[in-house]
Amino acid sequence: MSKNNDELFKNVISHAKEYGFVFQSSEIYDGLSAVYDYGQNGSELKNNIKAYWWKSMVQMHENIVGIDAAIFMHPTTWKASGHVDGFNDPMIDNKDSKKRYRADQLLEDKIARYEKDGKTDKAAQLQDAMDEALKTDNLDALRDLIIEHEIACPVSGTRNWTDVRQFNLMFSTKMGAVADDSDVVYLRPETAQGIFVNYLNVQKTGRMKIPFGIAQIGKAFRNEVIARQFIMRMREFEQMEMQFFVRPGSEMEWYEYWKETRLQWHKGLGTPAEKYRFHNHTKLAHYANAAVDIEFEFPFGFKEVEGIHSRTDFDLSQHQKFSGKKIQYFDPEINQNYVPYVIETSIGLDRMFLLTLINAYEEQDLSDGDKKDSRVVLKLHPCLAPVKAAILPLTKKDGLPEKAKEIMDRLKPDHNLMYEEKDSIGKRYRRQDAIGTPFCITVDHQSLEDNTVTIRHRDTMLQERVAIDGLGGIISGLVSWKNLLGK
Ligand code: GAP
Repeated sequence: MSKNNDELFKNVISHAKEYGFVFQSSEIYDGLSAVYDYGQNGSELKNNIKAYWWKSMVQMHENIVGIDAAIFMHPTTWKASGHVDGFNDPMIDNKDSKKRYRADQLLEDKIARYEKDGKTDKAAQLQDAMDEALKTDNLDALRDLIIEHEIACPVSGTRNWTDVRQFNLMFSTKMGAVADDSDVVYLRPETAQGIFVNYLNVQKTGRMKIPFGIAQIGKAFRNEVIARQFIMRMREFEQMEMQFFVRPGSEMEWYEYWKETRLQWHKGLGTPAEKYRFHNHTKLAHYANAAVDIEFEFPFGFKEVEGIHSRTDFDLSQHQKFSGKKIQYFDPEINQNYVPYVIETSIGLDRMFLLTLINAYEEQDLSDGDKKDSRVVLKLHPCLAPVKAAILPLTKKDGLPEKAKEIMDRLKPDHNLMYEEKDSIGKRYRRQDAIGTPFCITVDHQSLEDNTVTIRHRDTMLQERVAIDGLGGIISGLVSWKNLLGK
């Protein structure tokens, strides 16, 4: 990470804390590693990102419906899905520092260093060798690469490594009072399986015709060994996933469709196109016959935000096999029964949150000659902004607070608003800029005379005077989801 990017990232993290977006979990007990809480503004922003996803996937697609499955599922689900046996990370320990690392991440860091030093041939060579070792699950080869490329433990500085071993990422717990093995249940590591096991329920009760999709937003849990980069890699996180069921043979067409559709969703927020790129997987997950990541350029480089996977009929066939229940679709158009194929779109809500925050964060120098001034502004899309408008009486007297509260009461059933009367109007504007409030409504003495207020626009800082009676319509228009979804 360059110094500027490093600084930017640090500033975003402290801004997130200072303005009530993200807190370390259980901070008063020194926190819990890789677990975070969303504060008063963070939870609003997160809910708005969820709404954007849900509306564009479910509301805007007549053939996609949403569900909310439980986090606990029958343990056989995870045997069938392959997670009990195959949801592993290759881990290696340094014998001197006793620190544990993901072998592939040590190698990826080395590749990044080679690239930074202009040793592109070496980087490419190592990348190929690592991909091959991962593809063939060759743990010895991974260790050999770590030794060959002289990778040392960042803590002890030594190269005294153990063998590479597989480490399962699922958290387990016991259900019920009797502690024997049959009671083991897992915290789901992906929301997708809740959709697969409900495929028949939804298809039948919703009389869904292929192609159709089932969407879900919910928590997922992974015992990540290496937790880093703030909310990028967490042990408890949230996913927004959609499984799209298609006729076998048509999956590649739908794969391309969802790849493009999902990229457009990201760009819809106004993010510059060059900040995104596709990254095709060389090592495919056990269920996929094609997979691509949508990557965003974070301050620490391009990283995955969303995956589009062609999951074949793997999951439904496995659940059919393990449950003994027939999971098939009768396709009247071709007069055939089959197990549907699946295209999955899977986005991490927390990564999308971080992306949104980084993208929106701007430090502006507003100095005018000798008059020094600056502000931090979150240029969030108005649909995503935690607070849609702040209602600010110019002073605390002369009946202005009463008038402001009247406006607040009128508008708050429709919008999340904030009332503030403390400090100078300039300071209050800055506080709203810092949380991304797109509009500030100021009630002044003229408001008492002619029933008008000023609206200040966050990005331009320009103000306009409007009638109080028209305010509801104006704000509703400015924050309408039509502005995002109606294109
Ligand atoms: N159902 C497919 C699936 O879970 P994945 O690539 O493992 O695929 C999908 O995860 C998305 O979930 C990722 O693109 C990422 O945004 C998010 N994600 C995965 N692990 C995460 C973690 N430990 N912390 C935060 N987000 C994570």
